[in-house]
Amino acid sequence: MSHLLFNDSFINGEFYSTDKNFSVDDPATQQSIIMVSDVDDIGVHKAINTAHDAFIKLKLTNATTRSNVLMRWYDLVMQNKQTLAELMTKEQGKPLKEALGEVDYGAAFIKWYAEQAKRSYGDVIPATDNNHRLTSFKQPVGVVAGITPWNFPIAMVTRKVAPAYAAGCSFVLKPSEHTPLCALALAYLADQAGFEKGAFNVLLSEDAPRVGKILTESNIVRKFTFTGSTGVGKQLLTQCASTVKRTSMELGGNAPFIIFDNADLDEAVTGLMGAKFRNGGQTCVAANRIFVQRSILDQVVDKLAKKVATLKVGNGFGENTDIGPLIYPKAKQKVQELVADAKAKGAIQISDDVQLVDSFQAPLILTGVNPKMDIYHQEVFGPVVSIIAFDEEAEVLALANDVPYGLAAYFYSQNIKQIYRVSEALEYGMVGINEGLISNPVAPFGGVKQSGLGREGGYQGLDEYLEEKYVCIKL
Ligand code: SIN
Repeated sequence: MSHLLFNDSFINGEFYSTDKNFSVDDPATQQSIIMVSDVDDIGVHKAINTAHDAFIKLKLTNATTRSNVLMRWYDLVMQNKQTLAELMTKEQGKPLKEALGEVDYGAAFIKWYAEQAKRSYGDVIPATDNNHRLTSFKQPVGVVAGITPWNFPIAMVTRKVAPAYAAGCSFVLKPSEHTPLCALALAYLADQAGFEKGAFNVLLSEDAPRVGKILTESNIVRKFTFTGSTGVGKQLLTQCASTVKRTSMELGGNAPFIIFDNADLDEAVTGLMGAKFRNGGQTCVAANRIFVQRSILDQVVDKLAKKVATLKVGNGFGENTDIGPLIYPKAKQKVQELVADAKAKGAIQISDDVQLVDSFQAPLILTGVNPKMDIYHQEVFGPVVSIIAFDEEAEVLALANDVPYGLAAYFYSQNIKQIYRVSEALEYGMVGINEGLISNPVAPFGGVKQSGLGREGGYQGLDEYLEEKYVCIKL
């Protein structure tokens, strides 16, 4: 198998094994890929302590040195692109062409923060009298801990670890137990690139609450970053309160995707295919509620149904696969329960009722979705298009905003006044206008309301790992 396949936690630049093991399964075959060791509490504390030792060294390094190390990490990731993508398809299930795209996307965060490392500027503040000089500058926050999800096994890691390292912080990462193999490969490559021992530790465990509790309650860990569900995020925030940690939280969404009657319908449907079916619908920014103005409803449904009928579901290694398996059988069960609830309450399934084996879920379109249905309120995390008709702009804005979430929103319109009006009125952290794929390492990714705190990517993503220090000098 791959030269980047490992099965133990990575602590202080070495693999750390225990007697307790768990299996990492291929979601396409449900077969075990490899048994990996489950880190014990001693290992978790060891990782925190070695990260602290590494931080003492790291904070004495300069930005140019850290930038060079990050560039070497970027080069190694890109040199191993095919191997990493295959590892990802194996443990996560996504089509290989998407996995290759994710390696590019994930590596781009490393390159961007290699560049940004050199740009953590401070301020000279005009003093209020002649006897003082006031400045402020930025320093690394310290040891960072993070938990990352299974849907983007590389990009969600690099978009946290790269800015943290660029800022001069060390990192203890607990990746999802479903996709720890890409995280381990990344840590190994970071070590080869010249990361200080202990600067990037990876802890493998099936018991995320146990590991998360130690990380969030540690006095040594000064910052905690999480990507995952709003429910788990709230629990972690509560735990972080005990030590008043800095936090960034990238949590759940319920993205509206609005098509106005003046939109270019072909472009809108193409954009919707990307926003809905990327990673089989398993993204926090996936279009979840598709609002279509009533006068164009039939045309949109017709165009969409034709495109959806061409999608091929299968093993991610299949040459023509567009949609891989869902991550595990329970995920498929949840999707099917949401669909059954919607149909029982009056939704109409437009596409054929195709039942597939194991965790494979055929894409489907529902029309007549309304707020009485669970599917309207929950992230589907699967290949289901839920369509809701609307009449007026004010009506659709009220519906779009009437949820506790505020991560991504999308709309299609060719009316410039409407474009400004709607983008300003949507209570979301990110808005795609005439575009269904908005994620980009150079732009700030994050949500409002219960979708989270803080931003990842952009110059803002570096500030999440920096403290501002104000210095007042009396002359
Ligand atoms: C996510 O689903 O959490 C991230 C998706 C992205 O980066 O586009």
